[in-house]
Amino acid sequence: MTDPATNPAPSAESYAFANDYVAEEEYLLRARERAAELGCAPVAPGTGALLRFVARSVNASHVVEIGTGTGVSTVYLLDGMAEDGVLTSIDIEVENQRAAKETLTAAEIPAGRFRLIAGRALEVLPRLTDHAYDMVVIDADKSEYSLYFEQALRLLRSGGIIAFDNALWRDRVADPAQRDEETVALRDLVTMIRGHEGLTPVLAPVGDGLLLAVVE
Ligand SMILES: C[S@@+](CC[C@H](N)C(=O)[O-])C[C@H]1O[C@@H](n2cnc3c(N)ncnc32)[C@H](O)[C@@H]1O
Repeated sequence: MTDPATNPAPSAESYAFANDYVAEEEYLLRARERAAELGCAPVAPGTGALLRFVARSVNASHVVEIGTGTGVSTVYLLDGMAEDGVLTSIDIEVENQRAAKETLTAAEIPAGRFRLIAGRALEVLPRLTDHAYDMVVIDADKSEYSLYFEQALRLLRSGGIIAFDNALWRDRVADPAQRDEETVALRDLVTMIRGHEGLTPVLAPVGDGLLLAVVE
C-alpha cells in the first residue's frame, strides 16, 4: 500500500500543475470549446501529453482510437506517432467527427495520416486487421469498455499498448459506495486488467485516470 508519509498524495494545486504542465496550442483550445458545445468530454491536457509520450516512445505507426470526439486526443496521438503513421479513429456521432476534422485541419495534419470512420465501435472494430496496430486508445461508451478490450487484444501486435481514459471515472471507481452501471463496468474492467495474464498495466492518475497496459 502507498505510505502517505513517504508518498503524500498531491494537493489539488500540484495535480492541476502536473495536468497543465504541457501547454496547448490555440487549435486544441478551440477543439475543447467545440467539445463543450457538443457535450463530449475531451481528454485532459495531461492525458493527451501522456498519450503522445507513449505513442512517441513506441514509435507508433498504426493506432486505433475509439471515441474521436472533437479530436483532442487524436491530435496528441498523431503528434507522437511516426511521421508517416496513420491513425484510425471511430465515432458514432458524425457531428463530432466533423468538428474533429476541423481540429486536424487547423493543426495542419495531412489528410493521409488519419482515417475517421463514422459508426458504432462494436460494428467497425471487427472489420480492422488482426495484430496490425501498435496502440489502441479507448474513450467511448464506458459500459462497452470490456468489449472494446476484447477487440483491442485481437488488433494489437505483440508489445502493443492499450489505453483506457476515465479509469478513475470522476473519483467513483475507487469509491465502493458508487454502484451505478458505468462505474461498476469501469471498476470491473480495471480489476480485470490488473489480473489479466500477459498484460503489464499501470493506472496513471492524470486527468480522469488513464489505464495503460502493454500486451505480451
Ligand atoms: C469522451 S468523447 C471522446 C473525446 C476524445 N477522445 C477527445 O479527447 O477529444 C466520447 C466519444 O465517444 C463517442 N461514442 C460514444 N459511444 C460510442 C460508440 N458506441 N461507438 C463509437 N463512438 C462512440 C461519442 O460520440 C463521443 O464523441
